[in-house]
Amino acid sequence: MNAQIGKFSRLGFVLSATGAAVGLGNIWKFPYITGVYGGGAFVMVYLVTILLIGASLLIAEMVIGKRGQQDCVSNFETLSNGKRGWKYAGFTLFTGLVIMTFYSVVIGWIFYYIYLTFIGLPTTIDDAKNVFDQVYAHAPFLQIFFHLLSVLFVGVVLLGGIKKGIEKTNLILIPFLLFILLGLLMYAMEFDSFEKAVHFMFAPDFSKLSSEAIIRAVGHSFFTLSIGIGSIMTYAAALPKRAEIYKAGLMVAFMDTFIALIAGLVIFSFLFQFGGEPAKGPGLVFISLPVIFAKLGMAGTVIAFVFFLAMAFAGLTSAISLVEPSVMYLEDRLTWSRKKAVFWSSFVYFVVGVLVVFSISDGYKDLLTFGTKSLFDVLEFSVDSFLMPLGGILIAIFVGYVMKRDIVEGELLGHMGNSVFKIWYFSIRFIAPIAVLFLAYNAMKV
Ligand code: PHE
Repeated sequence: MNAQIGKFSRLGFVLSATGAAVGLGNIWKFPYITGVYGGGAFVMVYLVTILLIGASLLIAEMVIGKRGQQDCVSNFETLSNGKRGWKYAGFTLFTGLVIMTFYSVVIGWIFYYIYLTFIGLPTTIDDAKNVFDQVYAHAPFLQIFFHLLSVLFVGVVLLGGIKKGIEKTNLILIPFLLFILLGLLMYAMEFDSFEKAVHFMFAPDFSKLSSEAIIRAVGHSFFTLSIGIGSIMTYAAALPKRAEIYKAGLMVAFMDTFIALIAGLVIFSFLFQFGGEPAKGPGLVFISLPVIFAKLGMAGTVIAFVFFLAMAFAGLTSAISLVEPSVMYLEDRLTWSRKKAVFWSSFVYFVVGVLVVFSISDGYKDLLTFGTKSLFDVLEFSVDSFLMPLGGILIAIFVGYVMKRDIVEGELLGHMGNSVFKIWYFSIRFIAPIAVLFLAYNAMKV
């Protein structure tokens, strides 16, 4: 590990790993898929998966990183007990760049909406649909501009390394994000509709639960915890040897879930109070919410601004963790300078991101559509149903069967205690791999 880029402090690690986990998945995706799949029962499956599988895998990924102290490829190689072919599992680290090709484009949309709060939000649903459609399908160069801003922000942070770049950014942005969301929650709690939002999210109606909903809930629990692509592993590799990861893992899983639930409660309270539909899909926060905010006059503009700001913070702190695994790999294994590693990683996902933008833009999209799916859909689909489950299962098998048990115990036993360790180990060896296979198999069919 490159000494210049530094190590995390305990708080720095927890906040940075929380920053990695809490992202667009929590504030944009979780509320809208909860809306689409009918609320309570869906949330229940999501919570159970986080508890039974997600948190275990998160801790497993931390074990590999913390013990290996290197880039992902080297971690798999050195901890493989002589089975050096396992190093190829480390190449799942490039999934982060694949995700960034569309994630950064969506962050760009959020930047645009922050800008909109200054020039005026749409006031009717039709208007709002138009505005969104205009950006989404008719303004490729505007999207590329905002995508570039996000690439530059992430690049600058990464240049600063772990201590001065990543830790510092997260130490500022994550408390800010929490503060904004708690503020919005307090505001929403005043509404009559708050109870309805609680009911919608927490009273399960299992008749509404389709098998597709279950797959989405399980898949989303992986995505939201950032499992299986080396982000958490790379951060854990920058932990001091003495640091302990069990509590940190639980804390991150808790914070991630907590923030998703708050975001959901805030958004649904607003929707129910001012007459919006929960099942609106991806446009939920870009179409339904702005209209509601616009109705609230000046206060609404301020709320819209802080809401989109929170979403941008969440997205950016995740984006940083999506690129860092590649940067660290290029630095460590190929002995590139950090500058060169940051430049080329950013360049690659920026360029593919430009293609992603064209793949949804009128006039260009035919060139970048495969079957019925745009390049955007193809990339998102391959991440959700193939690349992340693959990373998840490799981690489970590696920690459960390949790494020496006493090494794994050495990282956890002292803090977990014997019985919790046994449950966790069982989950990693049996429950997690089966669940991931189930997810991957079914996702292919959907
Ligand atoms: N967990 C992030 C989110 O919820 C996305 C992410 C996935 C980040 C994988 C890093 C690694 O938006």
